[in-house]
Amino acid sequence: MTTRYRVEYALKTHRRDQLIEWIKGLLAVPFVLHSQPTAVFEAHHASVDQMALTTQRRYAEILRDVEELINDHIKHQQEGTHDRSKLKLLVPSVANFFTPLALHDAFIWQDQRRYISYRRFVPPSFNDVRLILNTAQVMSLVRGGPLELVTFDGDVTLYDDGQCLTPDNPVIPRILKLMRNGSKIGIVTAAGYTEARRYYDRLYGLLDALHASDMPAANKQGLIVLGGESNYCFKFTGDTPDFLKWVPRSEWLLEEMLMWQDADITELLDLAEASLRDTVKNMRMQATVVRKDRAVGIIPQDGHKFCRETLEETVLITQKILEMSAVGSRLPFCAFNGGNDVFVDIGDKSWGVLACQRYFGGIEGGKTLHVGDQFLSAGANDFKARLACTTAWIANPAETVQLLDEISELDELQQRKTR
Ligand code: IMP
Ligand code: MG
Repeated sequence: MTTRYRVEYALKTHRRDQLIEWIKGLLAVPFVLHSQPTAVFEAHHASVDQMALTTQRRYAEILRDVEELINDHIKHQQEGTHDRSKLKLLVPSVANFFTPLALHDAFIWQDQRRYISYRRFVPPSFNDVRLILNTAQVMSLVRGGPLELVTFDGDVTLYDDGQCLTPDNPVIPRILKLMRNGSKIGIVTAAGYTEARRYYDRLYGLLDALHASDMPAANKQGLIVLGGESNYCFKFTGDTPDFLKWVPRSEWLLEEMLMWQDADITELLDLAEASLRDTVKNMRMQATVVRKDRAVGIIPQDGHKFCRETLEETVLITQKILEMSAVGSRLPFCAFNGGNDVFVDIGDKSWGVLACQRYFGGIEGGKTLHVGDQFLSAGANDFKARLACTTAWIANPAETVQLLDEISELDELQQRKTR
């Protein structure tokens, strides 16, 4: 039931992506003008094919215009005036783009698969626009040359929430194909463990398959795991039983990260822990507090399920308290809703992706793609990766598989063109 409360709650900015909402609004106009809902009960209307053709043309024109606005924004970025672009006036929250977005062609591609222009009752939706943006991003990456680094979030992106990457997961052959083609892979997950064994337990399907594969040893070395957002790094190796080896921090930490003081880390985690404990008490949550050396979180007691509102309330309170604190302005942190837990980690995924780029010899943001499920502006941990590279926002592991198939298909098209 859509109560007034629910509607207003959903309108809160932290639950909206302004760029997607804005594009959705633009596409609503041709939908209103050209869709023909009465054709289902009146005979004299044009055929659905004709209607779809007109609507498709109008949707595609709009996406071409948005593509141009993004190109103009990129030009402003290059001149150091991105805050003066027309796009910035229209969508104030819009950040920087690492590549242009092939929105027109991506729309045609998705329309051929989702029949968006054929619809008479359901206008272009949030998910339609999200998928068009993903396709546009991978089209631009593939056209711009080899995709050098792909980083993946873990939970919900590679496997279902709280599950493991088991040998039957269809994402495995796709990741191996990327590696065979020379792309590096980073698994940038919030899951924070200090022992290789724990990551092996979560990722064994992929690690075993990589070990067994006949790809050249040099390609096999192109996989690392960045855990705890940006706190622990392990590289693939055939030499240990867990196929992972701890990488000393000196080999991947960025200069700025060396400045993070232990005293600040303790102070921030203390503050976060106090806030979490307070919310657990006030909201009568059946939760256990988990404190680690680089994170603090709350997890449910024996199979309990927290409701979404409680989880979000907990994140927003903790985030606000940390943002307002002195230590929170000195040290990057990430407070997020993990689906049925809340964690505060030191650092965030922008640092995780930057560390992967550094580890692999300085890969650029415009040659890197981060795939994740959490891109809302608050309480979501993949959002920060947008500061380091291009991104694709997926809703479940099946969409990740679909996206990798799209990359592969576009890659083959591109190679046929250049041959
Ligand atoms: P991700 O989706 O791969 O980023 O993983 C997020 C999930 O990892 C969280 O929802 C937690 O359930 C789990 N997790 C385990 N340890 C940690 C930690 O130290 N920090 C944050 N999340 C953790
Ligand atoms: Mg996730």
